[in-house]
Amino acid sequence: MSFTVAIDGPAAAGKGTISKAVARHFNFGHLDTGLLYRAVGARMLDGVEPVAAAKALDARDLDRTDLRSAEVAQAASKVAVIAEVRAALVDFQRAFARRSGGAVLDGRDIGTVICPEAEVKLFVTASAEVRAQRRFLELADSGTTYEAVLADVRARDERDMTRAEAPLKPADDAVTIDTSALSIEEAVAQAIAVIEARQQG
Ligand code: CDP
Repeated sequence: MSFTVAIDGPAAAGKGTISKAVARHFNFGHLDTGLLYRAVGARMLDGVEPVAAAKALDARDLDRTDLRSAEVAQAASKVAVIAEVRAALVDFQRAFARRSGGAVLDGRDIGTVICPEAEVKLFVTASAEVRAQRRFLELADSGTTYEAVLADVRARDERDMTRAEAPLKPADDAVTIDTSALSIEEAVAQAIAVIEARQQG
């Protein structure tokens, strides 16, 4: 039986951490859909045309070690505005969502476009300053500054929220978790509580 948890939200809001913890807790599979766009963005930086890159994406592209860089993040949000790129990635995401035993997918449009029938939809957010601070700590070794990370986060939010195709926004029936003032444990506990309530009908 399938059970889909859709987790959407802006850059560095804590979706990845919450998704992994929730998947572990319920023994569900987890797909970080941002990695698909990052992999296409990385191929674009290699000089490959993005639609062709999305259609030809394979598992090895997802293993690249540069996918978490700020440069690839910006490239990801640029290729993510292209309708044909998004279309090329739909079937893979939907098949994953329907896998038996349950699935958590995190991204920008999971509850709105990819899995509108998901059993649980969460919108995980936090202030831009808090998100930039978290991402800055993750990227600490790269020699970047907090101000540069904040500018990157804001630019990507703007592009993600204003694009015509599958813009970032909460689904009408999503539960919002604002993690600005929450610890990881508190945020994960809130997510688990929402899922348990849904499982119990
Ligand atoms: O980890 P972080 O939140 O910084 O980014 P990500 O989830 O890896 O996503 C990178 C970029 O991919 C986003 O800024 C979006 O432009 C795009 N994306 C998307 O359009 N749709 C998704 N379902 C996931 C990511």
